[in-house]
Amino acid sequence: MRKPIIAGNWKMFKTVPEALELVENLKPALAGEHRVESVLCPPFTALYAVEEALRGTSMALGAQDLFWEKQGAYTGEVSPVMLASIGCKYVIVGHSERRQYFGETDETVNKKVKAALAHGLLPIICVGESLEQREAGKTEDLVRGQVRKALDGLEAAGAAKVVIAYEPIWAIGTGRNASAADADKVAGLIRRTIAGVFDARLADGVRIQYGGSVKPENIAEFMQQPEIDGALVGGASLDAQSFVRIVRYEQK
Ligand code: PGA
Repeated sequence: MRKPIIAGNWKMFKTVPEALELVENLKPALAGEHRVESVLCPPFTALYAVEEALRGTSMALGAQDLFWEKQGAYTGEVSPVMLASIGCKYVIVGHSERRQYFGETDETVNKKVKAALAHGLLPIICVGESLEQREAGKTEDLVRGQVRKALDGLEAAGAAKVVIAYEPIWAIGTGRNASAADADKVAGLIRRTIAGVFDARLADGVRIQYGGSVKPENIAEFMQQPEIDGALVGGASLDAQSFVRIVRYEQK
């Protein structure tokens, strides 16, 4: 059985005091939540403070990006060792905003996935098509290629630990979510792709999230889909009440 995983990607929002306020508001509802694994992904500056605030709760900490080297002259970058040392469990890799604005490619995503796993971090790998690609009927090829390249050269033990987030770019921050059935279809394609690279048993254990305008009103529908095991939530994770409602979606 795959344990559902719902992660809040705070993006470039929340100063440290704001982050701590959000955590304190989430705690009463989510500190002992065990049905779903909930993960908070604050900006780098708030990671350590949030980690301290989360101690003793069942909520996990994730970063939004990492660099692949352990240390060195890479001004502005943050290494997997640094993230692991402050208690990060997860790290988002290859979010479409990083691909679009910061030159992230399938090759750098692959390097980051390997670096994360080598240091005990679990990557949440984002894949997904643009509106133009969808309209040109390229979704399947594109997503299949992104998944294969992200997992290229991984050992089975590592591949078994990744989380894949299917995030159609046109659905991110637009209020226009994919239909649950469409998202499930792509999640199924992702699982078959993993099975093709490794094997069906391994693929069956990998958790696949949907992301893109997830909100309290639509989460249950996504979670009812057989191939979807969770959500990567942007905007709706910035408000405690709305994130709590998402994590407490109605069960299948
Ligand atoms: P959104 O963002 O929920 O605000 O659409 C999702 C994401 O970018 O992970």
